[in-house]
Amino acid sequence: MKILVIGSGGREHTIVWKLAQSSRKPTLYCAPGNAGIESLATCVPIDANDLAGLKAFVQLEQIDLTVVGPEAPLALGIVDEFRASKLKIFGPTKGAARIEASKVFSKEIMTRAKILTAKAQSFDQVAPALAYLDQHELPVVVKADGLAQGKGVVVAATREEAKQAVRDSMEQGRFGQAGQRVLIEQFLDGEELTIMAFTDGLTVVPMLPAQDHKRVGDGDRGPNTGGMGAYCPAPLGTKALQEQVTRQVLYPAVEALSRMGCPFQGVLYAGLMIVKGTPYVLEFNARMGDPETQVVIPLLKTDLLEVIEAVVEHRLDQLAVDWHDDTMVCVVMTSEGYPGAYQTGRAIHGLLRTTDATRMVFHAGTARTDTEVVTAGGRVLGVIGRGATLESAQAEAYRVTKSIAFEGAHYRTDIACRAFSH
Ligand code: AMP
Ligand code: GLY
Repeated sequence: MKILVIGSGGREHTIVWKLAQSSRKPTLYCAPGNAGIESLATCVPIDANDLAGLKAFVQLEQIDLTVVGPEAPLALGIVDEFRASKLKIFGPTKGAARIEASKVFSKEIMTRAKILTAKAQSFDQVAPALAYLDQHELPVVVKADGLAQGKGVVVAATREEAKQAVRDSMEQGRFGQAGQRVLIEQFLDGEELTIMAFTDGLTVVPMLPAQDHKRVGDGDRGPNTGGMGAYCPAPLGTKALQEQVTRQVLYPAVEALSRMGCPFQGVLYAGLMIVKGTPYVLEFNARMGDPETQVVIPLLKTDLLEVIEAVVEHRLDQLAVDWHDDTMVCVVMTSEGYPGAYQTGRAIHGLLRTTDATRMVFHAGTARTDTEVVTAGGRVLGVIGRGATLESAQAEAYRVTKSIAFEGAHYRTDIACRAFSH
């Protein structure tokens, strides 16, 4: 069996790593991949957004199954395109992926499905948005409507900061088309939790709860990033809370999408704020999280390929999905300057040669030159620790992190610390 994974980050390295362990021994390809993925799959230099190029490759190589990692090709309609040509693909259609690609659409789903979320108002003109901010209580959250790689959200403590965020997005075009419409949203004070789920549009199978660390600096300081680290399972996500989220968030969202004529198939990601024990949805994503995937998917005991096929073939109700009971911590190492501008091409020293069940470094922005592995993105590596307890997993992750070096490397030193308060 031949499988193509689309994407080039730590999430995709994890997916490839997991599929490589399948008892079905698939032959793996990745487009475009990175220096870590290369050791497990044949990397092909086709951009994740080049739908025509990807389709031509799949037809030429007679790939049996395509797994989409990132949101951009989903929002461009890769699943619709592949299905029209009778090619098997894992992920939601363009219509269903709007739950991530448009925050306004996502709010509409939540309203229809009576899912708890922050109150929000959308604007496509600057002046009314600024006037609205004059009345709004602080802090206030300003969000670009479209896809902005996790950087389109500003939690503003002052009115001036909020107004600047509106101007940056709508006048300066900071997020291009994605920021021409903004949402101004009520600030929710609580603790964040990610619950992802496999769904075939009918059955929902939640994964273990994880916690991401969005801010660039220790103690949740500095700007939002794509994610600086994660751990799983997060003690905040008790069994009772997982069941509540499945019943009150995941199923209602999946059912609402079906009723609107765009059934969702793939991984639905719920980004939650737990406010005094009650889950509110901050965002939905239409794919696996990054870096959550790096700590959740290795704990999946069931063969990932079996789960993906059950989703694609609408028989998820017939599959028992099991999990390991140990703990994973992922520390993300980033380039100096990220999430702002950064340099690439810096040599990475101290990388593990292999990834096995306990020692894993998932590559994100890396590339191989003739002689070495170099940085090639903002988020460079996800260093994983696995252990029987959160303490041991965290210690292992930091032990390995400290043995890796590149010029200007940055990482947070407090990944998973919040869990110790539970
Ligand atoms: P989003 O992309 O919508 O998940 O937002 C990115 C990050 O901004 C979230 O992970 C939160 O840390 C923060 N955030 C977003 N919306 C809110 C909100 N309504 N209240 C508080 N924090 C928020
Ligand atoms: N870790 C947040 C995301 O994948 O969107």
